[in-house]
Amino acid sequence: MKILRAGVVILLSMAAQAVQAEAELANVDIPKTPEAVQRGAETAVNTCLGCHNLKFLKYGELSQLGFTDKQLDDLRSGKGLKEALRTDMDPTMLREGFGLLPPDLSLMAKAREGGPRYIYSLLTGFYQKSDGTVDNHAFPGVKMPDVLSYSDAKDPAQRTAIEEQARDVAAFLAWAADPHAAERYRLGYYVLAYLVVLTLLLYLSKRRIWARLH
Ligand code: HEC
Repeated sequence: MKILRAGVVILLSMAAQAVQAEAELANVDIPKTPEAVQRGAETAVNTCLGCHNLKFLKYGELSQLGFTDKQLDDLRSGKGLKEALRTDMDPTMLREGFGLLPPDLSLMAKAREGGPRYIYSLLTGFYQKSDGTVDNHAFPGVKMPDVLSYSDAKDPAQRTAIEEQARDVAAFLAWAADPHAAERYRLGYYVLAYLVVLTLLLYLSKRRIWARLH
């Protein structure tokens, strides 16, 4: 009985924690449109790569997002197509500046509870406290600065623009964590179609074979 009761208590507290973790995340739809993911890639390369790596992603793979050759050239500014997306910052400097190395972002959309919604919530979670210092609702005490300047933005239009930017980066990081998802889904449809045709053929041949027995 005691064990059962302990089990129920543990389950309940786990459920409560899950609900709490969910509640802190912004309720936002992360778009999957090519345009949003492309814009997100631009922000990631131009801003996030200032400190973070995306070491599992190569510049050449960005061509899957529908960039023209010219756009891709601008984006990689001299980096090779086979090169991984890495920051130009020196790791020692980063560690000295922030007290830790900014984590790799390649799989971040899979690594954190809430995935891309967490990334959005982190980027738009920065706010100014009454003493003027900046903190973050999604990650209190985070050592990352408010890179999109959300806590400074007072004007609603400006805030909306930053929210859209955060949404697009989240969309890009969701893609980056699984760049072959679209291919896999397409393959899935082929496999399903194949199975349907096979079922039909087997059914027809079964009918022919059994017809002889009547
Ligand atoms: C100026 C350096 C800098 C830039 C630019 C930067 N970050 Fe960070 N980021 C950090 C540091 C430092 C941490 C580690 C924070 C910590 O653990 O306290 C971090 C952590 C993170 C985390 C992990 C948070 C967690 O739960 O552990 C995510 C996600 C993230 N950054 C996303 C981004 C995105 C997206 C961008 C681009 C829009 C970006 N960062 C740009 C410095 C930076």
